[in-house]
Amino acid sequence: MEDRLLTSSLREEDAQTEYSLRPRTLNEYIGQTDVKEHMRIYIQAAKLRGEPLDHALLYGPPGLGKTTLAAIIANEMGGNLRITSGPAITHAGDLAALLTNLAPGDVLFIDEIHRLNANVEEVLYPAMEDFALDIIIGKGPGARSVRLDLPRFTLVGATTRMGLLTSPLRDRFGIKEQLAMYAPEDLCTIVTRSAGILHIDIDYEGAIEIASRARGTPRIANRLLRRVRDFAQVMGNGVVDILAAQQGLNMLGVDELGLDQVDRRVLTTMIDKFLGRPVGLETLAAATGEDSTTIEDVYEPYLLQLGFIARTPRGRIAMPAAYAHLGLTPPKDMQQDSVQAKMDI
Ligand code: ADE
Repeated sequence: MEDRLLTSSLREEDAQTEYSLRPRTLNEYIGQTDVKEHMRIYIQAAKLRGEPLDHALLYGPPGLGKTTLAAIIANEMGGNLRITSGPAITHAGDLAALLTNLAPGDVLFIDEIHRLNANVEEVLYPAMEDFALDIIIGKGPGARSVRLDLPRFTLVGATTRMGLLTSPLRDRFGIKEQLAMYAPEDLCTIVTRSAGILHIDIDYEGAIEIASRARGTPRIANRLLRRVRDFAQVMGNGVVDILAAQQGLNMLGVDELGLDQVDRRVLTTMIDKFLGRPVGLETLAAATGEDSTTIEDVYEPYLLQLGFIARTPRGRIAMPAAYAHLGLTPPKDMQQDSVQAKMDI
């Protein structure tokens, strides 16, 4: 029963490699300085008191290291890590099975925790608050509730959508940390570290080139590194230098800012099909052939950060910077004033 519920992203070869690249301690973890410093203090304090760490909620776009941080928390606290996800836990009994199999000090990681269903959430509340499981025995008027003690554990929840969490669930986390996109210098350090682990010959310019096209995301940086290595091995002398990085990334369709074909399709659809007018998320998804959740979780955060799109009450609009990047001229009414006016509506 439990194996089905414990999900892991270690299926494909790349995912295996990704696993080997993960830092195991806070000291090895690059970037996210504030989050790291907060966690260092909370972990040290919990250890001094001989208590498990308070439940922690990690939120931010995909690929920034939420699972990695959960594994580091488990490692630093000396507990086991159990990984599952909101959609994998379909019944309250599934969660009960996971909880009763934990040992004291274990970390239960629930990815996409905003996708837990309401019945499952109900079981989670007393588990988080009192380390207790309320089980109903019998049916009808004779039914009674029995409370089972659970080991003291730490729940680490991860979400890309803080706004979709119910407030009772959100309020039960004592620690809430937002992971931000990484600066290119931090990604460059991550790429260099990963190249060392994978025995890839890389120079500084090659690493910077990959880092600056990785949209602030370590998972993307590590994937681009592996693909550029393939390119350098087959087309070059095996060294990931600036030329190999540029040619390899261009071949992958990843431009200087890290935008790929889907990003460009989203932008050109907004500009060409909707003539720069506000467009709703579902309409945009249908017009581009992408899933709306994917657009919202995967593509939008980076486009918003670049200032290429803006969210208005009437939908998304492409901003002048997006036109400039695509070599297009914004329509006349795209003067700064009128864009601001549209956004204020
Ligand atoms: N690999 C993925 N994320 C990382 C990070 N933040 N630090 C070091 N290596 C990583």
